[in-house]
Amino acid sequence: FALYAPYIAAINKLKKERGAAILAHNYMTPEIYHGISDVAGDSLQLAIKATEVEADIIVQCGVHFMAETSKILNPSKTVLMPDMDAGCSLAESITADGIAEMRAKYPGAPVVSYVNTTAEVKAASDICCTSSNAAQIVAAQESDTVIMTPDQYLAQNVAKDVPQKRVVWWEGSCIVHEQYTPQDLREFREWNPGTRIIAHPECPPDVVAEADFSGSTSGIIKYVTDELPEKAMLVTECSMASNIADALPQVDFVGPCNMCPYMKKITLEKVLYSLHTMTGQVEVDAAVAEKARLSVRRMIDLSK
Ligand code: 13P
Ligand code: SF4
Repeated sequence: FALYAPYIAAINKLKKERGAAILAHNYMTPEIYHGISDVAGDSLQLAIKATEVEADIIVQCGVHFMAETSKILNPSKTVLMPDMDAGCSLAESITADGIAEMRAKYPGAPVVSYVNTTAEVKAASDICCTSSNAAQIVAAQESDTVIMTPDQYLAQNVAKDVPQKRVVWWEGSCIVHEQYTPQDLREFREWNPGTRIIAHPECPPDVVAEADFSGSTSGIIKYVTDELPEKAMLVTECSMASNIADALPQVDFVGPCNMCPYMKKITLEKVLYSLHTMTGQVEVDAAVAEKARLSVRRMIDLSK
């Protein structure tokens, strides 16, 4: 951590001078998560915080769709993205045409889109969801059939939790979570008996079925903090365990993890450069933002 100290000090000084707030996702590296963030959390918490932040400048330490969500909710603020190429395999898997295709296939069914989508896709949807409120949002729809985009696995996991609905889905997936197999979890449990296995709901349903608990990134933190298992395997992005390990010395974090190459594009150097030069400003077309805001707002209102 000492190696990062000069960057952390420079960013925190500049942040104050500029009156900026840094929002960081739970998948950021520890030096960002602990060193420079004002708020850290899962996708829903970051979206809610974006509606409450007083600073005129938001630096989004996460991926592009998260920065777009902050801009959609704060059109008059400057939202900085330290690396514009920090995308997401889910956000890239669908366009507004894909939403139209699903609507044509299932006429009258509402479209619930994961926040891991572009502003255009949010604008074409009826409501957004995150992994922490997806089941609640789907259950709240009046229609018997509900379209979920773009994560096929989150949709299949929600379908199990909300059996009263017929959930249909788009075939997108997260490149981090789709790599896990139930066999990986079974073998790991055999080699390390007593390990509590905790999976993110972007994992395929047969992987979630092998786990002891499934939840959003903040749901995972809460579960481990409350339960304090002796050994825990987090079936998700690698930084999750790194970020909470110091605060939970009773828990031994074991097992393999997968890195998100998009999240890992965000570094201290890029945050400093972006804040120093004010480059990487996220823009969303006003008409698109207005429609997308409705979808995000409906989600936030339903989650309260
Ligand atoms: P949550 O933090 O909402 O669980 O989402 C995980 C994720 O993959 C974000 O890209
Ligand atoms: Fe997208 Fe998966 Fe990376 Fe999250 S972890 S940003 S869902 S690719």
